[in-house]
Amino acid sequence: MATSAKVLSDSATQFVSDVRAGLCREGQKELPSKYLYDPLGFALFEAISLLPEYGLTRADERLLRRHAREIVRHVPGPALVSELGSGSGRKTRWILSELCEREPVSYYPIEISRAALASCQSELGDIESVSIVGVEREYLDGLREVAALRTDGVSLLVLFLGSTIGNFDSGADARFLSEVRGVLAPGDSLLVGTDLLKPLERMLEAYDDCLGVTAAFNLNLLGRINRELEGDFDLRQFEHVARFNQTTCSIEMHLRSKSRQVVNVRRGGFAVTFAAGETIWTESSHKYTRQEIAKLAVSCGFRTEAQWVDDEWPFAESLLVAV
Ligand code: AVJ
Repeated sequence: MATSAKVLSDSATQFVSDVRAGLCREGQKELPSKYLYDPLGFALFEAISLLPEYGLTRADERLLRRHAREIVRHVPGPALVSELGSGSGRKTRWILSELCEREPVSYYPIEISRAALASCQSELGDIESVSIVGVEREYLDGLREVAALRTDGVSLLVLFLGSTIGNFDSGADARFLSEVRGVLAPGDSLLVGTDLLKPLERMLEAYDDCLGVTAAFNLNLLGRINRELEGDFDLRQFEHVARFNQTTCSIEMHLRSKSRQVVNVRRGGFAVTFAAGETIWTESSHKYTRQEIAKLAVSCGFRTEAQWVDDEWPFAESLLVAV
């Protein structure tokens, strides 16, 4: 159909211009982390979430399962549920099941990954009295669309799980939360999951596992550029690096060039030169403290209604209410 072809070419144009901007800039080369999630990248992230070293996803799911009833008690009904970056949808089951004990629920996962939306449908489609409508958009565009669907007396519950908020640059998390707040009405809720600061060794291993799955996840970004933009990256000439940035309190993933080399991105019509040892910064994953989350919430127009922390893997679920 003409419409879907148009969507595809629009996002390819965005991809090529983001890649050009990130690789042709002066200083530290970078690529936006959202591009890690093509179908292969999405599957690799699913594998990461099963790794013994990466406790983040399991902690998130544990908290949601254990406390779903209590979380939902804080949410005024009837509620319309939307999720920013639903991933596979697995973690969301508990909240949705609890909510539909009260009344039928409409659930709007917002995702740029079509693979994730499909997985969401099959993962959660069996819950009775939940109707799922996937929204293939950027977060804020999608959320505005969902908010426009709400009728009088219906509150909005927005889920932002998995510590995806930690992938924004320093300061951008606050700007993003303020924008989300702008779409909400007083009394609406935002449930946000954040990975917490923990001993350095544990954080580094989570992003540099011994099976090399995280390395593959990171390198796949170059593979994606080869596939979609006719690039000629030699993936064997780059290596995965995970490091902790003390200043921003975040784990950074980089791809380091093993040698001096020139790479062409034919669909972009440009070439990039890498010095030996030069890196492309592909992701930041900020590690929060509990107090930091409460402060962030207040500065963005929310109050912290409640917070739950996992006892095995420091991770927090915070229920914020728009004031
Ligand atoms: C699920 C997006 C938050 O930052 O930990 C996993 C992605 N990157 N391993 C994270 C990720 C490397 C992840 N998020």
